Amino acid sequence: MPPITCVAASEVPVDTEVLAVPFVNGPRLADWGGAGPVVEVDLGFLERQGFEGKSGEVQVVPGEDGTAVMAVGVGEADEVSLETLRKATAAVVKAAWKSTRAATTLLDAVPPGVDRTAAAAAVAEGAGMAAYAFGTYKSDFSPCRLEHLVVVDGSGDLAPALQRGGRVAAAVCLARDLVNEPAGALTPSRLAEVATEIAEREGLVITVLDGAAIAAERLGGLAGVAAGSAEPPRLVELVYEPPGESGAPTVVLVGKGITFDSGGLSLKDAEGMMTMKTDMSGAAAVLATMSALPALGAPVRVVGILPITENMPSGTATRPGDVLRIRNGKTVEVLNTDAEGRLVLADGLSLAAEAAPAAIVDVATLTGAQVVALGRKIAGLMGNDEDLVQRVQDAAERAGEDVWPLPLPRQYRSQLDSDVADLKNIGSRGQAGALVAGLFLQEFVDGVPWAHLDIAGPARSDANEGYVTKGGTGFAVRTLLELVTSFR
Ligand code: BES
Ligand code: MN
Ligand code: ZN
Repeated sequence: MPPITCVAASEVPVDTEVLAVPFVNGPRLADWGGAGPVVEVDLGFLERQGFEGKSGEVQVVPGEDGTAVMAVGVGEADEVSLETLRKATAAVVKAAWKSTRAATTLLDAVPPGVDRTAAAAAVAEGAGMAAYAFGTYKSDFSPCRLEHLVVVDGSGDLAPALQRGGRVAAAVCLARDLVNEPAGALTPSRLAEVATEIAEREGLVITVLDGAAIAAERLGGLAGVAAGSAEPPRLVELVYEPPGESGAPTVVLVGKGITFDSGGLSLKDAEGMMTMKTDMSGAAAVLATMSALPALGAPVRVVGILPITENMPSGTATRPGDVLRIRNGKTVEVLNTDAEGRLVLADGLSLAAEAAPAAIVDVATLTGAQVVALGRKIAGLMGNDEDLVQRVQDAAERAGEDVWPLPLPRQYRSQLDSDVADLKNIGSRGQAGALVAGLFLQEFVDGVPWAHLDIAGPARSDANEGYVTKGGTGFAVRTLLELVTSFR
């Protein structure tokens, strides 16, 4: 599926099939001048159709000369934000799915306070993300046919911003593809191969450890989770070096890469297992983020660490009660083999901390408790460093992803005390599970500034909604890209 390309032009091209024109909501619909210089729209027709200009609303207006005009709502005029533009563009793409050449004057709706470059990038992001569909295994797949979305704008050079927005969207779509791929096809070794292909194509340095190397490197959490699987685990490390910036600080991104989470011997039920190919969404987000860095550029060195394995039950699986030794030397009593994400992340975080980087950010579909606390649209954000947590929150806000800070209360640390080892891998059932998981991870960062994104809920969507598509969402890619490309 060729990604939709957004290009800038000062006029609507003659071969445009669909022209999307913004309208604000409410009584001002009739006197909104946005369409003025470009095209006359029959406002009476729009009103008779009940079109109100609400954010994301679209109404096709029959045109005279072969170009269909599409009215797209942007809500209240003074509330038009980057997120409004992403959503409005998504609505245009969905409504023009089978056309090939569309154009839009959406930037006419950008209020004076909003940066036009950022607005152009948001349009390209919305278009690229909305044009996504996963058709690999469908016989009757109907992909988005839009090849071009021309952003009509008289001012300045928006081409670089449109290109960046498109590159961000492509990274999100890569993460979605990886998550949507069935676990039987995207095994740990296959995911590592895909990472290698991406690294070679984009220009990243990659190291892949196989099962023997994982054992030799004393990654006991990853090896312990992998013990029950016929598929061997992998540890992938990717490095982005900022050109000409020797001595730049390092940021390490760690992504949970459980390609399938059956729960292990603490087996999940049929319902709970159905979507567990999603359990490598953290690794997918980190890999997708890394893939875009050579094109987007970043002022920091960025290292991506992906501990990748299945979590399966078998005669060789880790048993409840077994003790694993993590890379940093700490021992963990595994009382529930379904709390496996924290075990592989413990090794990943230990590796990350060894290099004493400026910051570590991990991303993981870690706990059902996160979904209970914040639902399916908001990720949980925790960390040991107020400033870094704030920076991740600000990056998410700018990127248009919803994250909510959660505490890491020291008084719950005792839930993880084990009778036989340094830690156990579960706390008290039904009590602050997302926070206790965060407290567990904190044991492995060695005091390095660290933030943790629990994306168990938002990694997956049950519905197509705006630019969010059903299945894997690619959540956290935009936040991570925003964070590292603007890192100071
Ligand atoms: N991958 C799951 C968390 C999850 C649940 C993600 C639902 C997305 C949707 C994780 O490995 C897990 O099983 N966590 C357990 C931990 C518990 C045993 C302490 C959980 O949250 O139930
Ligand atoms: Mn699990
Ligand atoms: Zn899991």
